[in-house]
Amino acid sequence: MKIELRYPKVSDAKKFLDILKNPNFKYFSFCPISVEEEIKWIKNCVKNRKNNLEYNYAIILGGKLIGGCGIKIDQHLKHIGEIGYFVAEEYWGKGIATKAVKLLEKIAFKDLKLRRLTILMSSKNKGSEKVAIKCGYKKEGTMRKYRKLNSKLTDYHLYAKVK
Ligand SMILES: CC(C)(COP(=O)(O)OP(=O)(O)OC[C@H]1O[C@@H](n2cnc3c(N)ncnc32)[C@H](O)[C@@H]1OP(=O)(O)O)[C@@H](O)C(=O)NCCC(=O)NCCS
Repeated sequence: MKIELRYPKVSDAKKFLDILKNPNFKYFSFCPISVEEEIKWIKNCVKNRKNNLEYNYAIILGGKLIGGCGIKIDQHLKHIGEIGYFVAEEYWGKGIATKAVKLLEKIAFKDLKLRRLTILMSSKNKGSEKVAIKCGYKKEGTMRKYRKLNSKLTDYHLYAKVK
């Protein structure tokens, strides 16, 4: 299964929303509430790239949008990027997120010249943890009460790869 990454387009908004509003996305904190909000987010992606804040992509399989991923640049330590990803549920377990991370890495290390990439996930998000392990990220620890998930401060694992 060959996937491609491309920048999100305004016309992707409804599809992104349909994928993200899945109640089985239990350990994912970002869910837009409307197509309008999603369009605003997509439009902001251009500005965010120009300002070296975030580089977000749609995951495309056979011309179809099946997920999203991105790199968020640490604004204090600009050699560091945090990777994030999500895949539509009907495509889970087919290696899509693993492939997306490998493509993101090329962009991050080659084009953006980053030296450290991190992946953070709720300590309960076994699927996401497996993606980080399969891509060769090393566990550096567990950050206790790190981020809010469903309004509750939650422990997050920290995985990283350096170059
Ligand atoms: C996490 C997520 C991105 C994984 O995407 P994916 O395309 O299914 O990932 P991959 O197929 O590349 O790899 C997932 C691996 O985890 C395994 N896995 C999935 N759920 C699991 C679970 N609950 N426990 C253990 N392993 C699990 C899969 O079997 C697969 O391993 P395998 O290749 O050995 O079979 C996807 O489930 C998702 O979008 N979840 C909701 C959003 C989210 O949580 N994003 C991550 C935020 S940190």
